[in-house]
Amino acid sequence: MTDGYSEKVMDHFANPRNVGEIKDADGIGKVGNPTCGDVMWIYIKVKDNILEDVKFKTFGCGAAIATSSMITELAKGKTLEEGLKISRGNVAEALDGLPQVKLHCSNLAADGLHAAIKDYLEKTGKKLS
Ligand code: FES
Repeated sequence: MTDGYSEKVMDHFANPRNVGEIKDADGIGKVGNPTCGDVMWIYIKVKDNILEDVKFKTFGCGAAIATSSMITELAKGKTLEEGLKISRGNVAEALDGLPQVKLHCSNLAADGLHAAIKDYLEKTGKKLS
């Protein structure tokens, strides 16, 4: 523990997975936290209804970076329906929790993923069954 952060949070903050932009992304979700001004982009590649690739770019605090990193790992390989079900709480849980004052930071990651999936559905006109 470092100042209330779990080892998993510290690991994902220090070595974030799947950082970067997907140039030919099928869906992009951009979300911001009006309170702190942090911004996150989630990029997805979709094949046969599966989230084949997920990447992120985050200008934000350590918790926002760790949660973005974690959500890319949680979402990869999942169906679009499963991706939409990944909740804010799931992200914090997968990181073994976040300090209470930082819980709002995990909202961005789940909201960003959902926004990227909705963007994909809007662009393609596809509907989930
Ligand atoms: Fe802004 Fe964490 S302080 S997302």
